[in-house]
Amino acid sequence: MVRAPKEVMRVLWLIIDNMRQQWLLLAACFWVLFMVIVASKFITLTFKDADGYGIKQEPSKLTALAEIKLPEEKRLQATGRLLSEDALRSVLVQMDRLELLRNMCRDASLNNLSHTVLSKFVLDRIFVCDKHKILFCQTPKVGNTQWKKVLMVLNGAFPSIEQIPENVVHDPEKNGLPRLSSFSESEIQKRLNSYFKFFIVRDPFERLISAFKDKFVHNPRFEPWYKHEIAPVIIKKYRKNRTETRGLQFEDFVRYLGDPNHKWLDLQFGDHIIHWVTYVELCAPCELNYNVIGHHETLEDDAPYILKEAGIDRLVSYPIIPPGITLYNKTKVEHYFSAVAKRDIRRLYTRFEGDFKLFGYQEPEFLFK
Ligand SMILES: *[C@@H]1O[C@H](CO)[C@@H](O)[C@H](O)[C@H]1NC(C)=O
Ligand SMILES: *[C@@H]1O[C@H](CO)[C@@H](O)[C@H](O)[C@H]1NC(C)=O
Ligand SMILES: *[C@@H]1O[C@H](CO)[C@@H](O)[C@H](O)[C@H]1NC(C)=O
Repeated sequence: MVRAPKEVMRVLWLIIDNMRQQWLLLAACFWVLFMVIVASKFITLTFKDADGYGIKQEPSKLTALAEIKLPEEKRLQATGRLLSEDALRSVLVQMDRLELLRNMCRDASLNNLSHTVLSKFVLDRIFVCDKHKILFCQTPKVGNTQWKKVLMVLNGAFPSIEQIPENVVHDPEKNGLPRLSSFSESEIQKRLNSYFKFFIVRDPFERLISAFKDKFVHNPRFEPWYKHEIAPVIIKKYRKNRTETRGLQFEDFVRYLGDPNHKWLDLQFGDHIIHWVTYVELCAPCELNYNVIGHHETLEDDAPYILKEAGIDRLVSYPIIPPGITLYNKTKVEHYFSAVAKRDIRRLYTRFEGDFKLFGYQEPEFLFK
Protein backbone atom coordinates (compact mmCIF):
# COMPACT_ATOMS: atom_id res chain seq x y z
CA MET A 1 0.00 0.00 0.00
CA VAL A 2 2.73 2.48 1.02
CA ARG A 3 4.82 2.04 -2.10
CA ALA A 4 1.85 2.14 -4.42
CA PRO A 5 1.96 5.87 -5.41
CA LYS A 6 5.67 5.63 -6.31
CA GLU A 7 5.03 2.63 -8.50
CA VAL A 8 2.15 4.35 -10.19
CA MET A 9 4.34 7.35 -11.04
CA ARG A 10 7.19 5.18 -12.28
CA VAL A 11 4.99 3.23 -14.64
CA LEU A 12 3.16 6.34 -15.79
CA TRP A 13 6.47 8.01 -16.75
CA LEU A 14 7.73 4.94 -18.49
CA ILE A 15 4.63 4.78 -20.57
CA ILE A 16 4.45 8.46 -21.44
CA ASP A 17 8.17 8.79 -22.17
CA ASN A 18 8.68 5.71 -24.26
CA MET A 19 5.47 4.80 -25.94
CA ARG A 20 3.17 7.80 -26.23
CA GLN A 21 0.49 5.55 -27.48
CA GLN A 22 -3.04 6.25 -26.51
CA TRP A 23 -4.10 2.77 -25.64
CA LEU A 24 -1.24 2.38 -23.19
CA LEU A 25 -2.18 5.63 -21.51
CA LEU A 26 -5.65 4.28 -21.14
CA ALA A 27 -4.26 1.16 -19.51
CA ALA A 28 -2.31 3.33 -17.10
CA CYS A 29 -5.48 5.21 -16.26
CA PHE A 30 -7.12 1.95 -15.37
CA TRP A 31 -4.27 1.13 -13.08
CA VAL A 32 -4.39 4.50 -11.33
CA LEU A 33 -8.09 4.05 -10.91
CA PHE A 34 -7.53 0.64 -9.40
CA MET A 35 -5.14 2.20 -6.86
CA VAL A 36 -7.67 4.88 -6.00
CA ILE A 37 -10.27 2.20 -5.44
CA VAL A 38 -7.94 0.26 -3.17
CA ALA A 39 -7.20 3.45 -1.22
CA SER A 40 -10.85 4.38 -0.96
CA LYS A 41 -11.72 0.88 0.21
CA PHE A 42 -9.05 1.28 2.84
CA ILE A 43 -10.59 4.56 3.97
CA THR A 44 -14.08 3.06 4.28
CA LEU A 45 -12.59 0.28 6.35
CA THR A 46 -10.72 2.59 8.67
CA PHE A 47 -13.44 5.11 9.31
CA LYS A 48 -16.51 3.02 9.87
CA ASP A 49 -19.65 5.05 10.32
CA ALA A 50 -20.57 5.73 13.89
CA ASP A 51 -24.16 4.58 14.02
CA GLY A 52 -23.62 1.04 12.91
CA TYR A 53 -25.12 1.07 9.47
CA GLY A 54 -24.09 0.21 5.98
CA ILE A 55 -21.21 -2.10 5.56
CA LYS A 56 -20.23 -2.60 9.17
CA GLN A 57 -21.56 -6.12 9.68
CA GLU A 58 -20.25 -7.54 6.49
CA PRO A 59 -18.13 -10.51 7.47
CA SER A 60 -15.63 -10.77 4.61
CA LYS A 61 -14.49 -7.17 5.00
CA LEU A 62 -10.78 -7.71 5.32
CA THR A 63 -10.41 -10.31 2.62
CA ALA A 64 -12.36 -8.00 0.35
CA LEU A 65 -9.48 -5.53 0.54
CA ALA A 66 -7.18 -7.95 -1.23
CA GLU A 67 -9.50 -8.73 -4.09
CA ILE A 68 -11.49 -5.70 -5.05
CA LYS A 69 -12.99 -6.10 -8.45
CA LEU A 70 -15.21 -3.51 -10.02
CA PRO A 71 -17.42 -4.66 -12.88
CA GLU A 72 -16.10 -3.63 -16.28
CA GLU A 73 -18.94 -1.19 -16.86
CA LYS A 74 -18.23 0.53 -13.55
CA ARG A 75 -14.59 1.05 -14.48
CA LEU A 76 -15.53 2.46 -17.85
CA GLN A 77 -17.99 4.73 -16.20
CA ALA A 78 -15.30 5.78 -13.78
CA THR A 79 -12.76 6.59 -16.45
CA GLY A 80 -15.37 8.30 -18.58
CA ARG A 81 -16.66 10.53 -15.86
CA LEU A 82 -13.75 10.67 -13.42
CA LEU A 83 -15.80 9.61 -10.42
CA SER A 84 -15.08 11.52 -7.25
CA GLU A 85 -13.96 9.66 -4.17
CA ASP A 86 -17.47 9.98 -2.71
CA ALA A 87 -18.97 8.40 -5.79
CA LEU A 88 -16.47 5.55 -5.69
CA ARG A 89 -17.25 4.99 -2.05
CA SER A 90 -20.96 4.79 -2.92
CA VAL A 91 -20.21 2.12 -5.51
CA LEU A 92 -18.28 0.07 -2.96
CA VAL A 93 -20.89 0.47 -0.22
CA GLN A 94 -23.56 -0.74 -2.62
CA MET A 95 -21.46 -3.70 -3.74
CA ASP A 96 -20.94 -4.67 -0.10
CA ARG A 97 -24.67 -4.50 0.57
CA LEU A 98 -25.51 -6.71 -2.38
CA GLU A 99 -22.80 -9.19 -1.44
CA LEU A 100 -24.08 -9.35 2.13
CA LEU A 101 -27.60 -9.90 0.81
CA ARG A 102 -26.46 -12.70 -1.49
CA ASN A 103 -24.61 -14.41 1.37
CA MET A 104 -27.53 -14.11 3.77
CA CYS A 105 -29.97 -15.41 1.14
CA ARG A 106 -27.83 -18.55 0.94
CA ASP A 107 -27.70 -18.95 4.74
CA ALA A 108 -29.87 -21.97 5.49
CA SER A 109 -30.44 -20.99 9.13
CA LEU A 110 -32.25 -17.88 7.92
CA ASN A 111 -34.21 -19.73 5.26
CA ASN A 112 -37.68 -19.07 6.61
CA LEU A 113 -36.88 -15.43 7.26
CA SER A 114 -35.24 -14.58 3.97
CA HIS A 115 -37.35 -16.27 1.31
CA THR A 116 -40.85 -15.61 0.16
CA VAL A 117 -43.17 -16.62 -2.66
CA LEU A 118 -43.32 -14.24 -5.60
CA SER A 119 -47.03 -13.79 -5.03
CA LYS A 120 -49.49 -11.17 -6.25
CA PHE A 121 -48.93 -9.44 -2.88
CA VAL A 122 -45.28 -8.85 -3.84
CA LEU A 123 -46.06 -7.89 -7.45
CA ASP A 124 -48.58 -5.38 -6.08
CA ARG A 125 -45.78 -3.66 -4.17
CA ILE A 126 -43.68 -3.01 -7.26
CA PHE A 127 -44.29 0.11 -9.33
CA VAL A 128 -43.33 0.27 -12.98
CA CYS A 129 -41.81 3.03 -15.07
CA ASP A 130 -41.68 1.60 -18.60
CA LYS A 131 -40.33 4.77 -20.17
CA HIS A 132 -37.07 4.47 -18.24
CA LYS A 133 -37.19 0.74 -17.48
CA ILE A 134 -37.37 1.05 -13.69
CA LEU A 135 -39.04 -1.10 -11.04
CA PHE A 136 -39.47 0.31 -7.54
CA CYS A 137 -40.64 -1.84 -4.63
CA GLN A 138 -42.58 0.13 -2.07
CA THR A 139 -41.59 -0.25 1.60
CA PRO A 140 -43.89 2.08 3.56
CA LYS A 141 -42.45 4.40 6.23
CA VAL A 142 -39.17 4.71 4.39
CA GLY A 143 -39.71 7.85 2.33
CA ASN A 144 -41.58 6.06 -0.44
CA THR A 145 -43.94 8.93 -1.21
CA GLN A 146 -40.99 10.89 -2.56
CA TRP A 147 -39.86 8.03 -4.80
CA LYS A 148 -43.38 7.60 -6.13
CA LYS A 149 -43.37 11.29 -7.01
CA VAL A 150 -40.06 10.86 -8.82
CA LEU A 151 -41.58 8.03 -10.90
CA MET A 152 -44.75 10.05 -11.59
CA VAL A 153 -42.65 12.87 -13.04
CA LEU A 154 -40.65 10.36 -15.11
CA ASN A 155 -43.85 8.80 -16.43
CA GLY A 156 -44.83 12.23 -17.65
CA ALA A 157 -47.95 12.57 -15.51
CA PHE A 158 -46.61 15.78 -13.94
CA PRO A 159 -43.95 18.26 -15.06
CA SER A 160 -42.27 18.50 -11.64
CA ILE A 161 -42.37 17.00 -8.15
CA GLU A 162 -43.57 20.27 -6.63
CA GLN A 163 -46.65 20.24 -8.82
CA ILE A 164 -47.95 16.88 -7.58
CA PRO A 165 -50.83 17.29 -5.09
CA GLU A 166 -50.38 15.16 -1.94
CA ASN A 167 -53.72 13.40 -2.32
CA VAL A 168 -52.84 12.17 -5.81
CA VAL A 169 -49.64 10.31 -4.89
CA HIS A 170 -51.28 7.27 -3.30
CA ASP A 171 -54.39 7.29 -5.47
CA PRO A 172 -53.99 4.44 -7.97
CA GLU A 173 -56.59 6.03 -10.25
CA LYS A 174 -54.74 9.30 -10.55
CA ASN A 175 -51.04 8.68 -10.00
CA GLY A 176 -50.53 6.90 -13.32
CA LEU A 177 -48.15 4.40 -11.71
CA PRO A 178 -48.87 0.86 -12.89
CA ARG A 179 -48.09 -2.03 -10.57
CA LEU A 180 -46.15 -5.01 -11.82
CA SER A 181 -49.13 -7.24 -10.99
CA SER A 182 -51.18 -5.53 -13.71
CA PHE A 183 -49.09 -7.16 -16.47
CA SER A 184 -49.25 -10.65 -17.94
CA GLU A 185 -46.89 -13.36 -16.72
CA SER A 186 -44.52 -12.97 -19.68
CA GLU A 187 -44.59 -9.15 -19.46
CA ILE A 188 -43.76 -9.42 -15.75
CA GLN A 189 -40.81 -11.72 -16.43
CA LYS A 190 -39.53 -9.48 -19.19
CA ARG A 191 -39.49 -6.49 -16.85
CA LEU A 192 -38.00 -8.39 -13.91
CA ASN A 193 -35.18 -9.62 -16.14
CA SER A 194 -34.21 -6.36 -17.77
CA TYR A 195 -35.33 -3.35 -15.71
CA PHE A 196 -33.39 -1.46 -13.06
CA LYS A 197 -34.79 -2.60 -9.70
CA PHE A 198 -34.46 -0.91 -6.32
CA PHE A 199 -36.04 -0.37 -2.93
CA ILE A 200 -35.23 1.40 0.34
CA VAL A 201 -34.90 -0.01 3.86
CA ARG A 202 -34.29 1.45 7.31
CA ASP A 203 -33.72 0.01 10.76
CA PRO A 204 -36.56 -2.54 11.11
CA PHE A 205 -37.59 -1.52 14.65
CA GLU A 206 -37.54 2.20 13.85
CA ARG A 207 -39.78 1.46 10.91
CA LEU A 208 -42.27 -0.33 13.18
CA ILE A 209 -42.28 2.62 15.58
CA SER A 210 -42.91 4.94 12.67
CA ALA A 211 -45.79 2.75 11.41
CA PHE A 212 -47.31 2.59 14.89
CA LYS A 213 -47.12 6.37 15.34
CA ASP A 214 -48.46 7.09 11.89
CA LYS A 215 -51.35 4.68 11.84
CA PHE A 216 -52.43 4.35 15.47
CA VAL A 217 -51.27 7.44 17.37
CA HIS A 218 -51.99 10.13 14.82
CA ASN A 219 -55.05 8.22 13.59
CA PRO A 220 -55.23 9.90 10.21
CA ARG A 221 -58.81 10.93 9.49
CA PHE A 222 -58.72 9.68 5.91
CA GLU A 223 -57.65 6.21 7.12
CA PRO A 224 -60.24 5.49 9.90
CA TRP A 225 -59.89 1.72 9.63
CA TYR A 226 -56.63 1.65 11.63
CA LYS A 227 -58.30 3.10 14.70
CA HIS A 228 -61.77 1.63 14.30
CA GLU A 229 -61.17 -1.80 12.84
CA ILE A 230 -57.59 -2.95 13.30
CA ALA A 231 -56.70 -1.51 16.73
CA PRO A 232 -59.71 -3.03 18.58
CA VAL A 233 -58.97 -6.48 17.14
CA ILE A 234 -55.34 -6.35 18.26
CA ILE A 235 -56.32 -5.04 21.70
CA LYS A 236 -58.91 -7.77 22.16
CA LYS A 237 -56.40 -10.50 21.44
CA TYR A 238 -53.13 -9.13 22.82
CA ARG A 239 -53.77 -6.64 25.65
CA LYS A 240 -52.49 -7.95 28.97
CA ASN A 241 -53.32 -5.05 31.24
CA ARG A 242 -57.09 -5.19 31.50
CA THR A 243 -57.27 -1.89 33.42
CA GLU A 244 -55.69 -0.08 30.48
CA THR A 245 -58.45 1.70 28.57
CA ARG A 246 -56.45 3.84 26.15
CA GLY A 247 -56.19 3.06 22.44
CA LEU A 248 -53.65 0.64 21.00
CA GLN A 249 -50.37 0.75 22.95
CA PHE A 250 -46.98 -0.04 21.44
CA GLU A 251 -46.67 -3.13 23.65
CA ASP A 252 -49.97 -4.53 22.29
CA PHE A 253 -48.70 -3.94 18.78
CA VAL A 254 -45.37 -5.67 19.51
CA ARG A 255 -47.13 -8.67 21.01
CA TYR A 256 -49.23 -9.04 17.86
CA LEU A 257 -46.23 -8.73 15.53
CA GLY A 258 -44.10 -11.17 17.53
CA ASP A 259 -46.82 -13.82 17.75
CA PRO A 260 -45.78 -16.80 15.60
CA ASN A 261 -49.50 -17.11 14.71
CA HIS A 262 -49.87 -13.49 13.56
CA LYS A 263 -50.91 -14.69 10.08
CA TRP A 264 -54.52 -15.24 11.22
CA LEU A 265 -54.97 -11.57 11.95
CA ASP A 266 -52.87 -10.50 8.97
CA LEU A 267 -55.38 -12.17 6.66
CA GLN A 268 -58.18 -10.27 8.33
CA PHE A 269 -56.36 -6.93 7.94
CA GLY A 270 -55.77 -7.28 4.19
CA ASP A 271 -53.23 -5.06 2.45
CA HIS A 272 -53.02 -2.69 5.43
CA ILE A 273 -50.34 -5.01 6.80
CA ILE A 274 -47.87 -3.54 4.29
CA HIS A 275 -47.02 -1.01 6.98
CA TRP A 276 -45.61 -3.66 9.33
CA VAL A 277 -44.79 -6.91 7.49
CA THR A 278 -41.11 -7.62 6.81
CA TYR A 279 -39.15 -6.24 3.86
CA VAL A 280 -38.71 -9.87 2.83
CA GLU A 281 -42.48 -10.34 2.55
CA LEU A 282 -42.91 -7.02 0.73
CA CYS A 283 -40.13 -7.11 -1.85
CA ALA A 284 -38.76 -10.69 -2.03
CA PRO A 285 -35.12 -9.51 -1.95
CA CYS A 286 -33.75 -13.06 -2.25
CA GLU A 287 -35.96 -13.94 -5.22
CA LEU A 288 -35.57 -10.75 -7.26
CA ASN A 289 -32.15 -9.59 -8.27
CA TYR A 290 -32.29 -5.97 -7.10
CA ASN A 291 -29.67 -3.59 -8.52
CA VAL A 292 -29.58 -1.21 -5.57
CA ILE A 293 -30.84 -1.28 -2.01
CA GLY A 294 -30.96 2.18 -0.51
CA HIS A 295 -30.75 2.81 3.22
CA HIS A 296 -32.87 5.54 4.74
CA GLU A 297 -30.01 6.30 7.15
CA THR A 298 -27.71 7.22 4.24
CA LEU A 299 -30.38 8.57 1.91
CA GLU A 300 -28.36 11.74 1.30
CA ASP A 301 -25.82 9.56 -0.56
CA ASP A 302 -28.13 6.82 -1.75
CA ALA A 303 -30.81 8.91 -3.46
CA PRO A 304 -28.42 10.57 -5.96
CA TYR A 305 -26.69 7.22 -6.46
CA ILE A 306 -29.97 5.51 -7.35
CA LEU A 307 -30.92 8.28 -9.79
CA LYS A 308 -27.53 7.96 -11.47
CA GLU A 309 -27.59 4.17 -11.66
CA ALA A 310 -31.12 4.27 -13.07
CA GLY A 311 -29.89 6.74 -15.67
CA ILE A 312 -32.36 9.45 -14.69
CA ASP A 313 -30.14 11.86 -12.75
CA ARG A 314 -30.37 14.49 -15.47
CA LEU A 315 -34.15 14.27 -15.69
CA VAL A 316 -35.25 14.53 -12.11
CA SER A 317 -33.82 15.08 -8.64
CA TYR A 318 -34.86 13.70 -5.27
CA PRO A 319 -36.71 16.26 -3.12
CA ILE A 320 -34.62 18.04 -0.49
CA ILE A 321 -34.15 15.86 2.60
CA PRO A 322 -34.78 17.83 5.82
CA PRO A 323 -31.63 17.68 7.98
CA GLY A 324 -31.55 15.04 10.71
CA ILE A 325 -34.65 13.07 9.74
CA THR A 326 -32.79 10.10 8.32
CA LEU A 327 -30.60 9.47 11.37
CA TYR A 328 -31.18 6.43 13.54
CA ASN A 329 -32.47 7.59 16.93
CA LYS A 330 -31.51 5.12 19.64
CA THR A 331 -33.15 7.23 22.35
CA LYS A 332 -36.48 6.99 20.55
CA VAL A 333 -36.18 3.23 20.10
CA GLU A 334 -35.32 2.75 23.79
CA HIS A 335 -38.20 4.98 24.79
CA TYR A 336 -40.79 3.04 22.80
CA PHE A 337 -39.57 -0.37 23.92
CA SER A 338 -39.16 0.58 27.59
CA ALA A 339 -42.73 -0.53 28.38
CA VAL A 340 -42.47 -3.78 26.44
CA ALA A 341 -41.62 -7.09 28.13
CA LYS A 342 -38.21 -8.50 27.17
CA ARG A 343 -39.78 -11.75 26.09
CA ASP A 344 -42.02 -9.89 23.65
CA ILE A 345 -39.08 -7.90 22.28
CA ARG A 346 -37.17 -11.14 21.70
CA ARG A 347 -40.13 -12.64 19.87
CA LEU A 348 -40.38 -9.53 17.74
CA TYR A 349 -36.69 -9.76 16.91
CA THR A 350 -37.09 -13.44 16.02
CA ARG A 351 -39.69 -12.48 13.44
CA PHE A 352 -37.70 -9.56 12.01
CA GLU A 353 -34.25 -11.13 12.23
CA GLY A 354 -34.20 -11.64 8.46
CA ASP A 355 -34.67 -7.92 7.86
CA PHE A 356 -31.84 -7.11 10.28
CA LYS A 357 -29.40 -9.64 8.83
CA LEU A 358 -30.12 -9.29 5.11
CA PHE A 359 -29.58 -5.55 5.13
CA GLY A 360 -26.74 -5.28 7.64
CA TYR A 361 -28.60 -3.78 10.61
CA GLN A 362 -27.16 -4.58 14.00
CA GLU A 363 -29.16 -6.57 16.48
CA PRO A 364 -30.43 -4.03 19.07
CA GLU A 365 -28.85 -5.78 22.05
CA PHE A 366 -29.53 -2.80 24.30
CA LEU A 367 -33.22 -3.73 24.21
CA PHE A 368 -32.70 -7.24 25.52
CA LYS A 369 -30.66 -6.34 28.60
C1 LIG B 1 -39.25 -23.24 8.42
O1 LIG B 1 -40.62 -23.36 8.12
C2 LIG B 1 -41.05 -24.69 7.98
C3 LIG B 1 -42.50 -24.69 7.52
O2 LIG B 1 -43.13 -23.48 7.78
C4 LIG B 1 -40.87 -25.41 9.32
O3 LIG B 1 -41.30 -26.75 9.22
C5 LIG B 1 -39.39 -25.37 9.70
O4 LIG B 1 -39.22 -25.93 10.98
C6 LIG B 1 -38.89 -23.93 9.73
N1 LIG B 1 -37.47 -23.92 9.93
C7 LIG B 1 -36.83 -23.11 10.79
C8 LIG B 1 -35.35 -23.19 10.85
O5 LIG B 1 -37.45 -22.31 11.47
C1 LIG C 1 -52.27 -0.90 33.62
O1 LIG C 1 -52.81 0.26 33.04
C2 LIG C 1 -53.13 1.27 33.96
C3 LIG C 1 -53.81 2.43 33.19
O2 LIG C 1 -52.98 2.97 32.21
C4 LIG C 1 -51.86 1.72 34.67
O3 LIG C 1 -52.16 2.74 35.62
C5 LIG C 1 -51.20 0.54 35.35
O4 LIG C 1 -49.98 0.90 35.90
C6 LIG C 1 -50.99 -0.59 34.35
N1 LIG C 1 -50.52 -1.79 35.04
C7 LIG C 1 -49.41 -2.41 34.66
C8 LIG C 1 -49.08 -3.66 35.44
O5 LIG C 1 -48.71 -2.03 33.74
C1 LIG D 1 -34.67 11.30 19.27
O1 LIG D 1 -35.92 10.98 19.83
C2 LIG D 1 -36.20 11.65 21.05
C3 LIG D 1 -37.45 11.04 21.64
O2 LIG D 1 -38.44 10.82 20.68
C4 LIG D 1 -36.32 13.14 20.74
O3 LIG D 1 -36.62 13.86 21.92
C5 LIG D 1 -35.00 13.62 20.15
O4 LIG D 1 -35.11 14.97 19.75
C6 LIG D 1 -34.61 12.77 18.95
N1 LIG D 1 -33.24 13.11 18.57
C7 LIG D 1 -32.92 13.48 17.34
C8 LIG D 1 -31.48 13.75 17.09
O5 LIG D 1 -33.75 13.61 16.47
